Amino acid sequence: MTVTALIVAAGSGSRIGGEVPKQFRLLGSKSVLAHAVDAMASHPRIEAVRVVIGARQEEMARNALNARDVGALIVGGAERADSVRAGLAALGDGIVLVHDAARPFCPPEVIDRLLDALERHDGAVPALAVADTLAKARGNIDAMVDRTALVRIQTPQAFHVEDLLFAYDEAGKRAPTDESTVMVEAGLKVATVEGDPMLDKLTTPADWDRAEASLAARLISRTGMGFDVHAFEGPGPLMMGGIEIAHERGLAGHSDADVVLHAITDALLGAAGLGDIGEHFPPSDPQWKGAASDIFIAHAAQLIRDRGGIIDFVDCTVIAEEPKVGPHRAAMRSRVAEILGLSVGQVSIKATTTEKLGFTGRREGIAAQAVATVRMEIPR
Ligand code: CTP
Ligand code: MG
Repeated sequence: MTVTALIVAAGSGSRIGGEVPKQFRLLGSKSVLAHAVDAMASHPRIEAVRVVIGARQEEMARNALNARDVGALIVGGAERADSVRAGLAALGDGIVLVHDAARPFCPPEVIDRLLDALERHDGAVPALAVADTLAKARGNIDAMVDRTALVRIQTPQAFHVEDLLFAYDEAGKRAPTDESTVMVEAGLKVATVEGDPMLDKLTTPADWDRAEASLAARLISRTGMGFDVHAFEGPGPLMMGGIEIAHERGLAGHSDADVVLHAITDALLGAAGLGDIGEHFPPSDPQWKGAASDIFIAHAAQLIRDRGGIIDFVDCTVIAEEPKVGPHRAAMRSRVAEILGLSVGQVSIKATTTEKLGFTGRREGIAAQAVATVRMEIPR
């Protein structure tokens, strides 16, 4: 049976404040919504992800999603329940996991527990025991509440689409805060499975700070290295570090033969564990003939950011007798920083000769080595 994740992202985030609604803001290097979508889309048992947004949120949502495949965006309503109703109306039969965009981190184990429990129940929701003492109070405590039988309920919540549609029909115009409420009120059986504190909703500014800290704690520093060589061939100018350098000799290569950008691209891909430049841009592919290497390095940076990664630093050494790098170093740093969306202070370019030894010493070509330091999540 098809399993679809339905992510509601049509709220205005009034309690957390800020100009842009929380679900479209960057948490680390990707939006809260993108985190939520990726957590769903990367689960092997989820076939499709659909997203419900507010009436005038299309542009913000498209930017936040950054080309992620979520089909046509669905327009929601004034209350969360209206948004869920609109989303359900756009789905076919099957299983739906209704999820809040405002819960960016969903461990895959929770999804497995939900789908397993749904085989034996009308619905399944993640729940956590309450740890604090509970009371009924308005200023003063009126009465204590026994917490032992109480849980707090999170999303995603798993149901069969037709059951949830029935339950929402029964609910009429009421606007409950989640699906378990309408299901239980309609007399259906909803199981609880173990939830996860990572799934707690971003509701207040303090929640945002906690989410940023928890994200930062999950990132580890990773280093990648890159190396590239191009032979001198024909007349100059030549490209190095994304700038054109006037020189009597040019460099041979399938693309623009920019050794600095190629070495840094491989260093970035290496830090991310994403293969090498030849894998992403095969020299056998005619579309890369003469290509500006900006494309390669920008692509590597985007792959890292799409995975929630942060590029901290890149350092490159050019190994060549000629041309002299010194006069162009500042321009190369600025250009590399610009392409990568970094500050100049995060880019270093150095140069050395090999004392006339080897192919660089014989002025047959230029080599470059690079390292990149990137913060990314530990691979699962
Ligand atoms: N939501 C929705 N449609 C609405 C209201 C909320 O799709 N009319 C979504 C939110 O985008 C969020 C989830 O429901 O992903 C949970 O809602 P909540 O945390 O209350 O978000 P907001 O309504 O945006 O925040 P606030 O209540 O503080 O304004
Ligand atoms: Mg709300």
